[in-house]
Amino acid sequence: MQSITTAIVVVAAGSGTRLGQAAPKAFVGLDEHTILRHCLAGVFAAREAQVVVVAPADRVGEALAEAHEIAGARRDLVSVVAGGATRQQSVRAGLAKLLPTVETVLVHDAARALTPPEVIDRVADVVRETGHGVVPAMPVVDTIKRVEGDAITGVVDRAQLAAAQTPQGFRRDVLVAAYEIAAEEYTDDAALVAAAGHALVRVEGSALAFKITTPADLDRARQLIAPAAPPFRVGVGTDVHAFGGEGSLWLAGLEWPGEQALSGHSDGDAVAHAVVDALLGAAGLGDIGSRFGTARPEFAGAHGEEFLRETVAILAAAGWRPGNVSVQVQTQRPRFAARRAEAAAALSRAVGAPVAVSATTTDGLGFTGRAEGVQALAVAVIVPTTLDG
Ligand code: CTP
Ligand code: MG
Repeated sequence: MQSITTAIVVVAAGSGTRLGQAAPKAFVGLDEHTILRHCLAGVFAAREAQVVVVAPADRVGEALAEAHEIAGARRDLVSVVAGGATRQQSVRAGLAKLLPTVETVLVHDAARALTPPEVIDRVADVVRETGHGVVPAMPVVDTIKRVEGDAITGVVDRAQLAAAQTPQGFRRDVLVAAYEIAAEEYTDDAALVAAAGHALVRVEGSALAFKITTPADLDRARQLIAPAAPPFRVGVGTDVHAFGGEGSLWLAGLEWPGEQALSGHSDGDAVAHAVVDALLGAAGLGDIGSRFGTARPEFAGAHGEEFLRETVAILAAAGWRPGNVSVQVQTQRPRFAARRAEAAAALSRAVGAPVAVSATTTDGLGFTGRAEGVQALAVAVIVPTTLDG
């Protein structure tokens, strides 16, 4: 192995008071992985370097396990040490672990979990080229006011300002010497090195390198890495009911006076029931039996429209709404053509989205052909409500 000349000290020993979570900040989850793990993913995607993680004393083992998981073939380059009461003490603890061959040291906040690897490589390159301390920074976009209490006392020219990020990079000898003589707490490593009389330059930072500090920052980081919602999903549903029920026929959300009724736990509206199953299936939310079975006696004898409205509510609670539905009914009776538009309108009203209805006979074949019952087949498209803005 070629000797390692760069090290990255990742400070992760803070408690995250402002974030206000139960776990120390670096161990709070962004998705199934922690802030520390996401930060290390960036670090290991950058060019090869020694990686020193500085963790809370009681999290050293956990941090090592996280680092090993993501380090892959670079596992031997990882070490973890316990941090101190301040960030400066934590950095100092990390510096004590540098390999003898290291000449360039980057100090990085674990809390800047989404920092792109290019920023890390850029900082290391410029330290090597110039020998100066290097700070990735972003232009300040807000207008900055000078204040005393609530009074505004002046404007600060933002062209003269930049917002500092990490990793900040230094020659090893410069950083270690500056830490040896540091007698007070500095806001960052660059300030500490500047106090020791060394030059600093800035390089371009990244909007993604923001520090997760408050709950709003945590939400933002989580949204940035969340997989994009699928634009739509599709479901299929079928239903069959036999003729032979009491009262009048209900089908496709309409009453059909003079026609023989369908039998069933509800009104036997196979068309509405197929649409319910298509919608529930598209959302992965079960089926009409599991949602409206005997556990919900209020739906005994209910009309299709009520099932549909409740189904739309179930979908909404899971972040979905119907996009459109197409349903086909196979039946010998009643003759649909005259009331097809009316049926589509009734179902569309109940679903809150376009429902197209078509009808066919089966050339006298099968149970529908013998007029023993009806069969319906529905296909539904649903869309995430998050796309509604
Ligand atoms: N840090 C550290 N040791 C400390 C304090 C801070 O290693 N004693 C690390 C944090 O883990 C973080 C980085 O320094 O990655 C930047 O600090 P900050 O954002 O202030 O984190 P916390 O100190 O944990 O948060 P808070 O100030 O809200 O308590
Ligand atoms: Mg802090």
